[in-house]
Amino acid sequence: MTSTLDPFSKLVTDLEDYMAFEAEEGRSAVEIDPAVIAELGAPPATGTSASEGTAEATQTEDIPVKDKSKGSDLESVAAQIAGCTQCALHTGRTNTVPGEGNSQPEIMFVGEAPGADEDAQGRPFVGRAGKLLTQMIEAMGFQREEVFIANICKCRPPDNRKPERDEMDACIPYLKAQIALLKPRVIVCLGGTATEGLLGLTGITKIRGSWHTFEGIDVMPTLHPSYLLRKQSAKHDAWADLQAVLKHIGRTVPK
Ligand code: URA
Repeated sequence: MTSTLDPFSKLVTDLEDYMAFEAEEGRSAVEIDPAVIAELGAPPATGTSASEGTAEATQTEDIPVKDKSKGSDLESVAAQIAGCTQCALHTGRTNTVPGEGNSQPEIMFVGEAPGADEDAQGRPFVGRAGKLLTQMIEAMGFQREEVFIANICKCRPPDNRKPERDEMDACIPYLKAQIALLKPRVIVCLGGTATEGLLGLTGITKIRGSWHTFEGIDVMPTLHPSYLLRKQSAKHDAWADLQAVLKHIGRTVPK
């Protein structure tokens, strides 16, 4: 969908949407990196290539396993997550939420972090946003069980706030281990935090819809289902991203 707004008005509208979304998610403050503010004054990027989508900062560590011989399958990774005390989020959790789904998926979806429902059940995307994610997966012609769904952080941040950088860094080795085992053809990053955590890139409204890579796997950033719940008009963009994923893996795009 083409926007008729000039770039500044579009920026203000996007910012308003983002702040409303954050407030709805229970967050009362957001931190904005001064580098992002500086970037706002710069001309728009002309597009990001797959090679630009790598983030050394998020890819340097190995999984913090005590016994690496035990870290070789998904259950072992989940067991290590269950006992993890690498960051402060472990103190507030009811359950860890390692992720779930097909162990040989074509597509892996990566969200931000568990919310209250997910923390209570130990399963990803089971609340309102999860319902919409399931509908999105089904609209693509898959059953939820056929894909794998995980998050950047495996423990719920207090008040559903965005995970801190150090919390994402502490948790990313688990996601990396899962990705290495699952070997999906495509990873779909759901929202800005997942995109930042995996690719080290900010500005989801600009980045969405463009291909990137993470450790040799093609990555498509798109909008988070929670955002789509409050901004129905953005569903069109998210669907375009998911259609691109289907084309990429040679699947028929459902009408
Ligand atoms: N939002 C997320 O990013 N992840 C979940 O698991 C649930 C909601």
